[in-house]
Amino acid sequence: MAYGGYSYLDKKYKPGKDDFVVLFWLEGHAKIEKLAEAVASESSVGTWTKIHTMNEKVFREYRARVYKIVKVTENSGFVFVAYPWEHFDQKNVLQFYAGVLGNLFGLKELEECYVLDVKFPEKYQKQFSGPGAGLEGLRKYMGTKKTKRPHVGTIVKPKVGLTPKEFADVAYKAWVGGLDLVKDDENLIDQKFCPWKKRFDLMAKALDKAEQETGERKLYSSNITDSSIDRMLERLDYIKDSGMKMVMLDVYILGIPALMKMVEEAKKAKLFIHAHRAGYAAHHRGNFGVNFAIYERFWRMIGVDQLHIGTGVGKMEGGALLIKRFHELAEEYKIPEKFYLGSLGQTWIKKIKPFFSIASGGMDPGKVDAAVALHGQNVIIQAGGGVHGHPKGTLAGAKAMRQAVDAVVEGVPAPEYARNHKELELALRKWGYIDPNTITTKFKFERQNKRMLTNLVKKKGMAGIRAIWEI
Ligand code: 3PG
Repeated sequence: MAYGGYSYLDKKYKPGKDDFVVLFWLEGHAKIEKLAEAVASESSVGTWTKIHTMNEKVFREYRARVYKIVKVTENSGFVFVAYPWEHFDQKNVLQFYAGVLGNLFGLKELEECYVLDVKFPEKYQKQFSGPGAGLEGLRKYMGTKKTKRPHVGTIVKPKVGLTPKEFADVAYKAWVGGLDLVKDDENLIDQKFCPWKKRFDLMAKALDKAEQETGERKLYSSNITDSSIDRMLERLDYIKDSGMKMVMLDVYILGIPALMKMVEEAKKAKLFIHAHRAGYAAHHRGNFGVNFAIYERFWRMIGVDQLHIGTGVGKMEGGALLIKRFHELAEEYKIPEKFYLGSLGQTWIKKIKPFFSIASGGMDPGKVDAAVALHGQNVIIQAGGGVHGHPKGTLAGAKAMRQAVDAVVEGVPAPEYARNHKELELALRKWGYIDPNTITTKFKFERQNKRMLTNLVKKKGMAGIRAIWEI
């Protein structure tokens, strides 16, 4: 079965170590083999018809090869495609997007097309430098290398509307209450009611004061995302000159070229990079989409130090098994393939260091035990509403979050710790408690049922994967 006069199906092919492997979910009004051929063609060397200009060398050396199809129905299935190293412009990430994440989504035979994952060859990873500080660098700066406790932070709320002074007062209370990090929200940058520079200056003062009073290192994650690279660079310089340590970027919204430029400059300035993923789900949640894992892989190679990856227990989509996989993509060097999650294996080269994953979105002190059961201790737990919505206000909310983190490190369940910690007790009374066993039970279920989960996906296709993503 061919598409545009050529066949890209090659079931005997075994991807080599320099190949890019891409896993697609496809469904449409043609046979799955034909859909697979169409996608391989459009994303590599072909078009809709046979052409006189095609030659043997082009077809042999640059085409994509469909080497495996897991057929779900006559018209749908999972398609594994290998792309040769030579196919890509290796200094230019956008060329990869233009091919593998590009035109193919528009093919009219397709009713669903979801790019589940990409495995990048080691040779490709070498062009990137990875995180400057990463997980270990941040721990070193914050002095948490020994305790290995989760870092804990807040997003000032309301997300927009406070004046610089109101904003810095809230932040100061959060820091002295025991939080490590205070951040701007994704949509607060330089609005009239809270100009960036004025806010930054007051935040720097508040941070100094909080550090002196608590004897702990504190971080302010200042959002400098802007459609003007010049304005972002000005702010970055200003942060560097002030001696503050962190910048925040809305990484998905910025796009690759601006992001790469800003990451390069931030690394030169020795600033930590806090990456907010706002917007990713516009692609991640639909029938035509790109899995968040693929962006995450790029952001690790490009070199962010901490990234929002979801929580598994808070307000954003994604269950424990899926978020755990995003966490592994941040923390591990070797990641095994898990077909039932639509996830390919990966081995990262040494310089693509681990970064800190951030569990943020709908968190509160009662969810800390569960979040740690899911992510482990190498995580930054952030709560906005879960701090500023505390019955006694921000200071008490910050104390409650820190108490919850201290409790988990001491191995004491939060409800027990709350008996002697009134802020935590009030928080649990307001928001309740998620037992960490609800998470560990899910992982046990996964370990014991891998074959069943794989069979479910083989039978139900993408609907099966989506169901597993919400476990
Ligand atoms: C974020 O940046 O993750 C959100 O603003 C989290 O806010 P929340 O803790 O109030 O859900």
